[in-house]
Amino acid sequence: MSSRERVAVVLAGGEGKRMRSEKPKVLSEVMFRPMISWVLDACECAKIKHICVVTGYESEQLEAYLGGRYETVLQQERKGTGHAVMMAQSYLSRFSNADVLILYGDAPFIEAQTITAAWERHAQEENSVTVVTAEVEDPTGYGRIVRAGAEIASIVEQKDATEAEKSIREINSGIYWFRGEDLLETLPQLQNNNSQGEYYLTDTISLLIAAGKRAGIYQAENADSILGANDRKGLLMLNEIAKRKIIEKHLEAGVEFLSADGVLIDPDVTIGAGTVIYPNTILKGNTSVGKECVLSNGCVIENCSVGDRARLNAIQAYDSTIGHDVSIGPYTHIRPGTKIHPHVKIGDFVEIKNSEIGEYTAVSHLTYVGDSDVGKNVNFGCGVVTVNYDGTKKSRTTIGDNAFIGCNTNLVAPVKLGDMVYTAAGTTVTKDVPDGALAIGRAPTVIKEGYATKKLKDFAKKHEKETSK
Ligand code: UD1
Ligand code: CA
Repeated sequence: MSSRERVAVVLAGGEGKRMRSEKPKVLSEVMFRPMISWVLDACECAKIKHICVVTGYESEQLEAYLGGRYETVLQQERKGTGHAVMMAQSYLSRFSNADVLILYGDAPFIEAQTITAAWERHAQEENSVTVVTAEVEDPTGYGRIVRAGAEIASIVEQKDATEAEKSIREINSGIYWFRGEDLLETLPQLQNNNSQGEYYLTDTISLLIAAGKRAGIYQAENADSILGANDRKGLLMLNEIAKRKIIEKHLEAGVEFLSADGVLIDPDVTIGAGTVIYPNTILKGNTSVGKECVLSNGCVIENCSVGDRARLNAIQAYDSTIGHDVSIGPYTHIRPGTKIHPHVKIGDFVEIKNSEIGEYTAVSHLTYVGDSDVGKNVNFGCGVVTVNYDGTKKSRTTIGDNAFIGCNTNLVAPVKLGDMVYTAAGTTVTKDVPDGALAIGRAPTVIKEGYATKKLKDFAKKHEKETSK
């Protein structure tokens, strides 16, 4: 097998007019990840040594996303895919004895194994270019592979195709392996005398053949893997394919889905076996879910690690760690920077932000815990509020182990409650409370006998009259 170096150029300059978007088309997302990131991951997974991205429309946005991880060249004006590769000419001349992989940033599903298998064919057949193709049901919009006998003769774009050519169902994926030196030699020969007035990279095929070089084909087994998106409809289709593929992967790994309706899972999310996922669950970003969990009724979880056997019901959680054997929800908001230890119970209409909640602590309902460090086995009554913001700065609340925070307690931060502290219902705590103490701060109840009967007599009469009508 050839020992030539392998480098890649990813075309990502296009505006994506058909998307009607203000961002570069390749930043349109499939399962929460820009299309280009799927493509770059596949290249890396295929162990491509060096990658160059051709940027163009709104290049700053793309540069910001790439964050200096890849070399880039700018295509000032969009004059076609061939023109885009021309922009990488000086990059390519640094690797002139390399095999060059060209891909388009708007076809996210290319797999590393296809890249590698196509390269093996390319090297074995000693081709100047090897085009990755696929047979599809509906080839509309794609370049068609015109064969002469068994060999590829040329690629014809939809807009330039004759009726006969339009009926060809073998399409160009936009993924090619080139011998670097042959590509560099051919690029200057590209012309733009076609229906779109563009320099088509696809024309390199017939040019190389005319120069007596070998052009080959690698047909991808899985046609889905080369699909691209040029408009929102195409993007929705890719999202649906990705969604199904990701769910299938988890099914094989022992995850249970009651229905796949509304379930959206980022490709990098991991889920343990035996976990059950209900409809409308959305798992995003760098998220891992443990084994034997139940995620029910539309949980949204982003950048979180969730331990085994967690029961999460209609929660939203972001950038947080959730321990094993917890029970959270319904309608609970876990905001960034939170660490929930094992066996914690958090109930309805509770918000936790940037806080640590110790083992076996219970925060059952209608409570806000922000910027707090809470110990183990603490019980929060209903309606507790950590008053963490005085209008200028945020302050922390600390609560020791085994404390009991009564209903409607306000904890005015910065404040520290020791171990086994008890706060009476309705107390506003404005100073630190030592271990084992009771904090009570509320007006005493005054009883005025008979007062209410007098006051409410007329009201009761009126009600009686109305209900007897
Ligand atoms: C292209 C192919 C077509 C193939 C299809 C596969 C050509 C001429 N046609 O068509 O044969 O079946 O992809 O998806 O290559 N780009 C630039 N600069 C430009 C133009 C495009 O960087 O000046 C980038 C785009 O961002 C995109 C990629 O190149 O990522 C492909 O361009 P696009 O306009 O989408 O080509 P298609 O019409 O889809
Ligand atoms: Ca395209």
